Amino acid sequence: MAVRDILQIGHPVLRQVAEPIDPADVTTPEIQGLIDDLIDTMHHANGAGLAAPQIGVGLRAVVMEVTNNPRYPYKPPIPLTVAINPVINPLDDELVEINEGCLSVPLRGNVMRHVNIAVTYCDGHGDEHQATLRGLTAGTWQHECDHLDGVLIVDRADPSSLATWDEFNAHQRDAFVERITAFVERVGS
Ligand code: NI
Repeated sequence: MAVRDILQIGHPVLRQVAEPIDPADVTTPEIQGLIDDLIDTMHHANGAGLAAPQIGVGLRAVVMEVTNNPRYPYKPPIPLTVAINPVINPLDDELVEINEGCLSVPLRGNVMRHVNIAVTYCDGHGDEHQATLRGLTAGTWQHECDHLDGVLIVDRADPSSLATWDEFNAHQRDAFVERITAFVERVGS
């Protein structure tokens, strides 16, 4: 188990399409070590999620967890989740604009995300799951799964919304938190 360096935008691994993991390999020491490193690194960086390409591993694995996150205090909780080979299917056309950050990008920006999604994935034991997700939790899943396809928030963001964290805090945070808090109350997650 180790805290790994997080690659920053410009590193080519962040732009590659990650390879699937054979479900039979999930319990191997190699993949268990990858999962442990993702969780340790996410916790160390106070991230809401982390994808394997962000630590230089081109495999389709992500971890997510939100518990009173200081980077995103308006986010509803997400239990610690390991998702191997996650697949997302939008359930309808409802979209929400979310201001997102990323541990691999030194900016925040407004990104359109599906509000209602279905996901399939294997957990850290290799067991298959299906779930429906909603709201900011669905947005976090979409952000992390984008990493597995080499997509970063700057690709999806409204360019005029891009801001450093300091400028976001100074000029955009209050209005965003008010809008997104009302959204979370409406959709329940
Ligand atoms: Ni990210």
